[in-house]
Amino acid sequence: MRSKIVAGNWKMNTTFQEAEDLLYEIADLLNEQGKGDADVIICPPSPYLEMASDIGVENDFFVGAQNANDHESGAFTGEISAAMISSMGITHVILGHSERRTYYGENDAIIKNKIDLALKHELVPIYCCGEVLAEREKSNHFEVVRRQVSEALFHLDKEAFSKIIIAYEPVWAIGTGVTATPDQAQEMHAFIRGLIATKYGDETAADTTILYGGSCNAKNAAELFSQADVDGGLIGGASLKAADFVTIVNSFK
Ligand code: 13P
Repeated sequence: MRSKIVAGNWKMNTTFQEAEDLLYEIADLLNEQGKGDADVIICPPSPYLEMASDIGVENDFFVGAQNANDHESGAFTGEISAAMISSMGITHVILGHSERRTYYGENDAIIKNKIDLALKHELVPIYCCGEVLAEREKSNHFEVVRRQVSEALFHLDKEAFSKIIIAYEPVWAIGTGVTATPDQAQEMHAFIRGLIATKYGDETAADTTILYGGSCNAKNAAELFSQADVDGGLIGGASLKAADFVTIVNSFK
């Protein structure tokens, strides 16, 4: 189902106490200011998932993990499985983030397995795609995103695909302060929706939620979210500041 969504990816930040304080600060602001008809998903570091989920249940926001392993279970020291995440009552998981692709060698074949396991365990995958700067400079960005989306997702049948949330995160915009222009975001989101339409039909394409991520903040969110094919954001740095994050949540027209 297509929804308005603002998701916060805290990455590897906060101590337990800082995380708890930030969650309550966000919850208080959401309760004060409302969130319109947007869904809020907060993705804290894994050790805090259960604590965050308890606060989320009381305050009407979802909690997601930032990653899950590509195996069901077994001898993978230090890793966290989709089954574990799901068994704690967590609802979403970010998969394919560019930091996982760059620093941990994840490719679309690995991410495809993660997608399958997430769906098997009834987690909603937030699938990240996006080109690096050199690819955009060579005008290769549409082809890169087409490959990422089709290789990791297009093996799914229509029903399974309809559970996926896509996040377009141009790598050159992540953590750099350089945001895609609203036109650049809209152009790529429309392209992704077109790929989905070709594969699964217009109805599925129209029903897919596509988020933008990459230096999205309290100042630029409203313009980005006003684009026809931008259904919300996946927010990094600005999700660690409660007031900014809740402003972003309330940036839909
Ligand atoms: P920033 O908002 O810090 O650029 O991070 C975006 C991101 O990677 C969200 O997953």
